[in-house]
Amino acid sequence: MPGRKIVTMPGDGIGKVVLPEAVRVLDAVGFEAEYVHADIGWEFWVKEGNPLPQRTLDLLTEHRLGLFGAITSKPKTEADRELSRELKDKGHVYYSPIVGLRQHFNLDICLRPCRTFKGNPLNFVRKAADGGTEEPVVDVAIFRQNTEGLYAGVEWTDPPPEVRKALETHPKMAAFKDVPGPDLAVSTRIFTRGACRRIVEAAFEYARKKGYRSVTVCEKPNVIRETSGMMLETARTVQKDYPDIELWNTNIDAQMMWLTKNPEDYGAIVSGNMFGDIVSDGFAGLVGGLGFACSGNIGETCAIFEPTHGSAPKYENLDPPIVNPMAMILSACMMLDHVGETDKAARIRGAIAAVIEEGKVRTYDMMKLPGGPDVIKQGAATTTQVTDAVIANL
Ligand code: NAI
Ligand code: MG
Repeated sequence: MPGRKIVTMPGDGIGKVVLPEAVRVLDAVGFEAEYVHADIGWEFWVKEGNPLPQRTLDLLTEHRLGLFGAITSKPKTEADRELSRELKDKGHVYYSPIVGLRQHFNLDICLRPCRTFKGNPLNFVRKAADGGTEEPVVDVAIFRQNTEGLYAGVEWTDPPPEVRKALETHPKMAAFKDVPGPDLAVSTRIFTRGACRRIVEAAFEYARKKGYRSVTVCEKPNVIRETSGMMLETARTVQKDYPDIELWNTNIDAQMMWLTKNPEDYGAIVSGNMFGDIVSDGFAGLVGGLGFACSGNIGETCAIFEPTHGSAPKYENLDPPIVNPMAMILSACMMLDHVGETDKAARIRGAIAAVIEEGKVRTYDMMKLPGGPDVIKQGAATTTQVTDAVIANL
């Protein structure tokens, strides 16, 4: 659709390197859009005391679709130290702008597809029974609840008396009754039925569209009965509308073991916020790691697509840049799928597959080299060369 506007937020470090590469690929595939730059990240914390300025929120409210690179976050003491002098001691508090975006727009569904590309030297391999090696094809989509659970931020050290009193209404709290307040930390794990339902339904819909055999709820309902239990119970209800798709139930700990044993068996996986974070990194490690891990943060009114990796400050100033643009380009493909441009997304993924299978143009991570300026001399491709190769294969 001509006239579509996409808010681009390169952010910090290598976010500034990889995001323009994705836009080059989108242009080359013939996606008609206008890109509107938006400010986000450390620079705006330092200069304005806010890493997520209101003008960026306004642009996203208007255009509803964003591409995000990466941001740098630093611990509280460093954040305070780097804040510009005239803003100091004015009550500014640093919050991660990506968490801020997820909360502001209620981007409650985090989708992280993890797919093997044939010929990627970073693919998971395992020993076969006959002593040879096997390279299973992984094609998994993790649906991570993005706004609740252990990352919702409802937590205390030394909880206020009324909280402590409320907690003590639970018989199991008796075990902690003599712990002095300053020695007691509590992080809550809040699930709501509505959010469980949205993420589970999204997973089943995706499974149907992709022809997956199963949706797995990966939680720990045998121990965390209330929250994990709610997710599983919701999935059992939703599954009734999808009789063609099996519902599996795994515990997060066992799942982390099984993903190196039989990753090819899984389709869509649904988890709460923290377990989704863990299991998605686990699967990403089987298909190429941070250089390939793409993601989407999807809400009802807005969606933002981003690579999973951060700003990798060690590499931000290398000229030419050496980081892998694939995760960002694959995130742009997810955006295309989201807006119904599935043919263009498929063409880009096909071009990526061709580049990887040919194996001539590879960033340092694919060559298993330690990163640094020397990798180019050692035969690694630059970021730009990888993008050029993808474009040439479209
Ligand atoms: P990171 O993901 O930035 O980098 C870790 C390492 O992974 C890098 O040193 C590099 O070896 C490798 N790597 C990352 N992206 C790569 C790519 N595209 N190609 C090749 N190799 C790549 O994580 P780190 O070092 O823990 O954090 C750096 C900064 O990024 C911190 O300030 C952190 O808070 C922030 N961060 C931001 C995220 C976001 O914007 N969504 C996510 C994770 C971290
Ligand atoms: Mg993570």
